[in-house]
Amino acid sequence: MAGQGGSSAGGRGVVISDNWPGYSLDLFTYPQHYYGDLEYVLIPHGIIVDRTERLAKDIMQDIGDNDIVVLCVLKGGYKFCADLVEHIKNLSRNSERFISMKVDFVRLKSYHNDQSMQDMQIIGGDDLSKLTGKDIVGTGRTMKVLLNNIEKYKPKMIKVASLLVKRTSRPDGYRPDYYGFEIPDLFVVGYALDYNEHFRDLNHICVINDHGKAKYRV
Ligand code: HPA
Ligand code: MG
Repeated sequence: MAGQGGSSAGGRGVVISDNWPGYSLDLFTYPQHYYGDLEYVLIPHGIIVDRTERLAKDIMQDIGDNDIVVLCVLKGGYKFCADLVEHIKNLSRNSERFISMKVDFVRLKSYHNDQSMQDMQIIGGDDLSKLTGKDIVGTGRTMKVLLNNIEKYKPKMIKVASLLVKRTSRPDGYRPDYYGFEIPDLFVVGYALDYNEHFRDLNHICVINDHGKAKYRV
């Protein structure tokens, strides 16, 4: 795993190469009900949290004195969003300026088993028109659909932060303004990411094995 800090927005994330073998599950603790369902740990929880702290610092540098509305994309983004908000809060408490933050939530759903479905649904979330004139940091698996919806309301600035970016072969791959890790094109679970609603209660980001896929298939 090769990392590079970069300066701020535009800096690269930690790049996890295709031949990265991951960490043995035996080196960490994880819920007993997932024993036998996972292949390996791709990113341990501690590294996720440390990298998120740096993203928080980069974001704070870029937003200046503006107040922000954090739009968390549920459900998979809730851990990243919570940790990111916590780091921004802590960093701003220890600096000159205290950034005012509002947090809102939307839900996007497009996955069934480990396959992406064609239609994207935006479920719930408050009135997006409230975002007008505010700066937004979207977190989670942010989709173009959502951005198109938000842009209608002409916010002063929109920034997208995502913990993970997958190296897919698709040419339309969206690049967020901030991201934690660039990972191989693998289906991963944990840290709020699910496989049919399972594995959200796993702290580390892991690769699911065939047994796990079969066990929780719907
Ligand atoms: N895991 C869980 N949910 C996802 C993934 C993934 O790898 N990719 C897109 N949604
Ligand atoms: Mg999901």
